Amino acid sequence: MPSETERRPAHEPVMLAEVVALLAPALDKPGARIVDVTLGLGGHSAALLAAARPDARLLGLDRDPQALAQATERLADHGDRVVTRHARFSDLAQVLDELGWDRVDAVLADLGVSSLQLDEAERGFSFQRDGELDMRMDPTRGESAADLLGRLSQAELAELLRDLGEEPEARRIARALCRSGEEGRPRTTAGLRAAIVRAVGGRANRRHDPATLTFQALRIAVNDELGELESLLALLPQRLARGGRAAFLAYHSLEDRIVKQSFRSWSARCVCPPELPICQCGGKARAIRLTPGAARPTAEEIARNPRARSARLRALEWVDER
Ligand SMILES: C[S@@+](CC[C@H](N)C(=O)[O-])C[C@H]1O[C@@H](n2cnc3c(N)ncnc32)[C@H](O)[C@@H]1O
Repeated sequence: MPSETERRPAHEPVMLAEVVALLAPALDKPGARIVDVTLGLGGHSAALLAAARPDARLLGLDRDPQALAQATERLADHGDRVVTRHARFSDLAQVLDELGWDRVDAVLADLGVSSLQLDEAERGFSFQRDGELDMRMDPTRGESAADLLGRLSQAELAELLRDLGEEPEARRIARALCRSGEEGRPRTTAGLRAAIVRAVGGRANRRHDPATLTFQALRIAVNDELGELESLLALLPQRLARGGRAAFLAYHSLEDRIVKQSFRSWSARCVCPPELPICQCGGKARAIRLTPGAARPTAEEIARNPRARSARLRALEWVDER
């Protein structure tokens, strides 16, 4: 997730040239089927379409109806090269079935929140703007952050802040938030930040705002971001064509770790349990990692677009014959 203390200037797609270069051989296939599961404002999708052949088709998903509408309009000039759907990662198998797309050639996931979501106070993602504590990427369904915060016990909240925010002051913050004063538990972004600052402000020895990790944890929980990511990764082996490529942009260590572990297991030559004395799996890698470690944005990109600062890009080519 981009740091909340940074202003996002333009809606510049993160690591755009690197993403396009890594996916290029898959985009260049005749009739390539491209899936952007995080359409956002459509910046990456526009560049993928520009790099692909005229007969390529792109499916763009977003769970945020507002983002979907904007991106659909932006990509309208591409006509029937583009199809967009209001859907989550966990709906992708069904959407592909509906389109009759058994296998796809390129998949892009630019995880996390969009500038659009962060910049609108009433979406409740940012402690820099006062608004209802909502945080749902899809405001048409699910529980808001305020409702989640209102129903968790102190122990459950501390666990959530620790596990999803890696917040070192998780217990202290949970205690403060659950010790509801006259006004009850916070229901606005400013109210939540003020309660966190009261709880840890004097103790803070941090690089970022004391509310950053609590906001991150609530946002991940409200949107089940890690569960969604797991379901997307579980689908890749079934749907990525041989020679197909996938690129993932992660913005915090929890999601990057999940991507890294899947990539590592697919690219391992032997996946037998360590207790087996000899290999029984055949020892063939299913994918080749194209980014040993993770690729990072250049200093120039970070200076131009601070939102890119925490990005880690991982890509692979699927080589399994099946
Ligand atoms: C970082 S933005 C993508 C920006 C985009 N690459 C661009 O060029 O404008 C991430 C987008 O993915 C969407 N998103 C996040 N998780 C999702 C999920 N599980 N299913 C569908 N969309 C999701 C968000 O609503 C947001 O619009």
